[in-house]
Amino acid sequence: MKILSVVGARPNFMKVAPFIRSINNYNKTAFIPINHYLVHTGQHYDDRMSKSFFDALNIPEADINLGIGSGTHAEQVGRSMIELEKVFAIQNPDWVVVFGDVNATIAAAITAKKLNIKICHIEAGLRSGDMKMPEEINRIVTDRLSDLLLTPDRFSIDNLKAEGIPNKRIHFVGNIMIDTLELNRAQAEKLSIYDIVYHNQIIHTSNYQIRQSLSSLNQFALVTLHRPSNVDKKDILKSLVDFLVDEASQKITIIWTVHPRTQKQLRLFNLWDKVCKSDNIYLLHPLDYHSMLKLNMQAQIMLTDSGGLQEECTVLGTPCITMRWNTERPVTLREYGGASVLVGNDILRIREEFNQTLYEPRNPERPELWDGHTADRCLGEIIDYT
Ligand code: UD1
Repeated sequence: MKILSVVGARPNFMKVAPFIRSINNYNKTAFIPINHYLVHTGQHYDDRMSKSFFDALNIPEADINLGIGSGTHAEQVGRSMIELEKVFAIQNPDWVVVFGDVNATIAAAITAKKLNIKICHIEAGLRSGDMKMPEEINRIVTDRLSDLLLTPDRFSIDNLKAEGIPNKRIHFVGNIMIDTLELNRAQAEKLSIYDIVYHNQIIHTSNYQIRQSLSSLNQFALVTLHRPSNVDKKDILKSLVDFLVDEASQKITIIWTVHPRTQKQLRLFNLWDKVCKSDNIYLLHPLDYHSMLKLNMQAQIMLTDSGGLQEECTVLGTPCITMRWNTERPVTLREYGGASVLVGNDILRIREEFNQTLYEPRNPERPELWDGHTADRCLGEIIDYT
């Protein structure tokens, strides 16, 4: 059997890593080994957004990198499709495997379907109900075209059934990203917060100053932001910056890992100086996998608009203020046993939850099948597919 996996952006890399590991394990004893081929569209291309994850998670170098790079959504998807069509035609795989909801996912799904190649979607069935999110469009189209839909939770099964997808194509396998978390937890644990902050600072701060604020508090809030709905409008981004600088950082040290899109927008809206001048906020470059995991394990609270971090917080028990109005991952919400609460970008709600949650004890509750063995189940479903 020949399987071709397609990845493109940062959140894909922690999902493909355990899948490749499962194939390698299977091949050790298989009578007929699986022939696996990895394609990277190159949507994320900075070392910090891409190569560092391949290195840290032992992902083999992609067999082909399409070098798509930045662009509008149509440009990224269009360029990916043109190049993927050539690769699929030459490789002629039995399966194309896609992950999550990024532009590479939808591009590969449409291209494979038109060439009559079977598609497996890992992380199928997530729905935010918000068609303004580019990722929601990517999810719906990919699921509609996929032959095998592997879901991370039971909500996703209901979503797919409600859209008329036949039962036999849907299989509940758990969350593949948690395989990566479990495999790398011990290694992350060994890292020092001080080293992570010192070596990844965007604006240089002296050793002394970092030691002072981190050791005296030994507590910090972790911040990430990148969604267009939060960073692309000046008034919204300004109100978030004002809250972080004028209020949150007065209560607790903030470590903010800045996504390239966000740094660009902060500079564009003349907010960058304000953030840089705050002496209780550390601005870090996007971090490697283990460093981010270590910060998440240790953080007093997370403020984020990332879906993946919401999930990791649920497993680690880190209280998570999710700066979105909706989520495609309800299983991570407090009302369903998770660690996350939705606050949108309404400062009143953010303030209230931040103040209430800041010193809440950790209370992790693991969702069903988020057990570190999802990749094996994914591969099993592909092998058993009839
Ligand atoms: C993408 C995914 C999103 C995911 C996020 C995580 C889609 C539709 N969105 O959004 O689901 O949560 O990744 O990171 O696929 N840039 C760099 N270096 C890079 C990559 C991007 O500087 O390596 C800059 C680009 O110039 C661009 C901006 O960051 O302006 C955004 O990148 P893009 O790939 O468009 O989407 P993300 O916002 O990262």
